[in-house]
Amino acid sequence: MPSKASCLYILTVVCWASVLWYLSATRPSSTYVGQHSFSQITFVRKDSNFSFSNIRTRPMNPHSFNYLINEPRKCEDASPFLVILISTTHKDFDARQAIRETWGDENNFKGIQMVTLFLLGKNVDNVLNEMVEQESQIFHDIIVEDFVDSYHNLTLKTLMGMKWIATFCSKAKYVMKTDSDIFVNMENLINKLLKPNTKPRRRYFTGYVINGGPIRDMRSKWYMPRDLYPDSNYPPFCSGTGYVFSADVAEAIYKVSLHTRLLHLEDVYVGLCLHKLGIHPFQNSGFNHWKITYSLCRYRRIITVHQIPPEEMHRIWNEMSSKKHLRC
Ligand SMILES: *[C@@H]1O[C@H](CO)[C@@H](O)[C@H](O)[C@H]1NC(C)=O
Ligand SMILES: *[C@@H]1O[C@H](CO)[C@@H](O)[C@H](O)[C@H]1NC(C)=O
Repeated sequence: MPSKASCLYILTVVCWASVLWYLSATRPSSTYVGQHSFSQITFVRKDSNFSFSNIRTRPMNPHSFNYLINEPRKCEDASPFLVILISTTHKDFDARQAIRETWGDENNFKGIQMVTLFLLGKNVDNVLNEMVEQESQIFHDIIVEDFVDSYHNLTLKTLMGMKWIATFCSKAKYVMKTDSDIFVNMENLINKLLKPNTKPRRRYFTGYVINGGPIRDMRSKWYMPRDLYPDSNYPPFCSGTGYVFSADVAEAIYKVSLHTRLLHLEDVYVGLCLHKLGIHPFQNSGFNHWKITYSLCRYRRIITVHQIPPEEMHRIWNEMSSKKHLRC
């Protein structure tokens, strides 16, 4: 018969066993926790300077590309009234030439200094790079940085333009960013909108303002993944087919972009930067981001029209130039 004493004995043994088991089970893990927090502390201490300086000064989106072709002297000793930055692709030789010979001709306006520049990245096809290099040696109006030139990198092309203005042409008054399939009515842009005889504006931005939100349909050209942009609205932005701003905005956008996560939709991204800067884009109905069938009177009222192939660019330009005396 087990006595009370042996019962007590068994109970004690069980208790001790539990205590020992508990200690053996928890000791390694508590040691582990101790080591972990210790190593974390030393880690933080060792790197504290490093990580703090990172947070403050290291850009999230550094635009650290190199120029493959540059025209650093284009603005030297000059403060152009208007710099036109034209986003283009390598194979669009005809479009660039059409623009040079029509609305983009830097000598169109007597007494008003204008600079026209084409923006490119690096093509995967080296033959095209070499052809552009030769074109640049003739015209000296092309800027190329060494990012891969692609539709998804259009934002980099725009930022390259902003950086170029900030670095090499900060005394310019106004800047236009447009594409090589756009017809621009320069007369309207310069004399009606920007008015060379008035005091230049600052923190000014205008174009065809779009108030919209992300398109989540993957088949769309403007598809925006939710993880890249979770909000359901974009801040107001100007259609990338043509927008105009005072030159101070170029540097502001470039600087704020260094700390703004890159989005592949160039015009949306610029809108995001403007929002961070507290600059509101003005709506101007002269900027059309679609095609308008040519008629003299219609084209006299607009500032931009989209989808104009090179031959049509020449035709429209010649028409309008030869009919300057006609009234509408
Ligand atoms: C932290 O920065 C200060 C001042 O720049 C420097 O003197 C110190 O050595 C740095 N400490 C570490 C751990 O890098
Ligand atoms: C954009 O350019 C960067 C830098 O050259 C390159 O690494 C990346 O692949 C390009 N992205 C696309 C979608 O072409």
